[in-house]
Amino acid sequence: MTDKTSQIKQEFFEKLKEVKDIADLENIKVQYLGKNGTVTALMKDMKTLDADMKKQFGQVVNQLKTEVSNAVSDKFEELKKAAVEKEINSMADFDVSTPANLERGSYHPITLVQRECEKIFKSMGFTVEDYSEIVTDYECFESLNIPKHHPARDMQDTYYLENGQLLKTQTSAAQNAIYKKYKDALINEGKPIKAIFPGRCFRNEATDACHENTFFQMEGVMVDKNISISNLIFFMKTMLSEVFRKDIKVRLRPGFFPFVEPGFELDISCLICGGDGCPSCKHSGWLELCPCGMIHPEVLKAGGIDPEEYTGFAFGLGLTRLAMMKYGVKDIRDLNSGNLKSLSQFTDDE
Ligand code: DAH
Repeated sequence: MTDKTSQIKQEFFEKLKEVKDIADLENIKVQYLGKNGTVTALMKDMKTLDADMKKQFGQVVNQLKTEVSNAVSDKFEELKKAAVEKEINSMADFDVSTPANLERGSYHPITLVQRECEKIFKSMGFTVEDYSEIVTDYECFESLNIPKHHPARDMQDTYYLENGQLLKTQTSAAQNAIYKKYKDALINEGKPIKAIFPGRCFRNEATDACHENTFFQMEGVMVDKNISISNLIFFMKTMLSEVFRKDIKVRLRPGFFPFVEPGFELDISCLICGGDGCPSCKHSGWLELCPCGMIHPEVLKAGGIDPEEYTGFAFGLGLTRLAMMKYGVKDIRDLNSGNLKSLSQFTDDE
């Protein structure tokens, strides 16, 4: 009988060596420890033995049973670990520190508004440009007709790097590069420049409910022969009516920006009262939304475009402000707060 148990044991461990996965292991577990398994059968054999032998043999069989079940459990752990490691290695980008059971995320309200504007402008033939957040003084100011010591710089103090570059204070900083990128197609092939460039801007700003040191804008430019203020009004009105899903009235007031001439502040009819006057629009019926204007000849020149031949408009839409208006966010700081409870309530309503 003892010979039989050692033979079973030897056979079991040999088979165990061949096991490759959990399914194999389950099979041999059933084969040896299952109801009709080899080890279980030995227990049944014991019934036929006399009392003395039963005791002796019982101990041997019990030991075998323990060894077999321990070996099965160890192998199980080993296979499980190997499977997890294999899975982790197969996902190079998998972040194992991410908490499990994360709820599905949602887009940030500014992203939602940005994507919506991009879609609308794309449908009107504009390209969407990506531009660096770190720019040169030339890009952010000089090329925009804001020379050193110009008072317009006072309102746009920002964060400077040791190499003299800076975090852009306005998406207008990409204008020069965009003109240079597309001017050949404009001049040689007569293709108008129609581009928008959304981006994050930074200013050295004391924060309150309406001001943040980090905010989003979306700049747009269109340059061609005979571009006029009417083109500017048309594009802005179309875009805003789509964003707010209703007909939006717009009006222009004079505004000063060194890179446009004439420059304007574009107001929209109040979204709450529709223009009748209410506390939200300080009873004026209008909300200030988007500075804009006709691109200054010096700015076109700096971009390699002849202002005698071409004209264009530019606008700087405050995306952060637009998101606040669209979603009724009262405090700008909520948008950068990382508070998921307030940020995840907005969805793409398409
Ligand atoms: N860049 C300006 C700002 O951040 C906004 C602006 C005004 C952009 C007029 C424009 C424009 O393109 O035409 O204050």
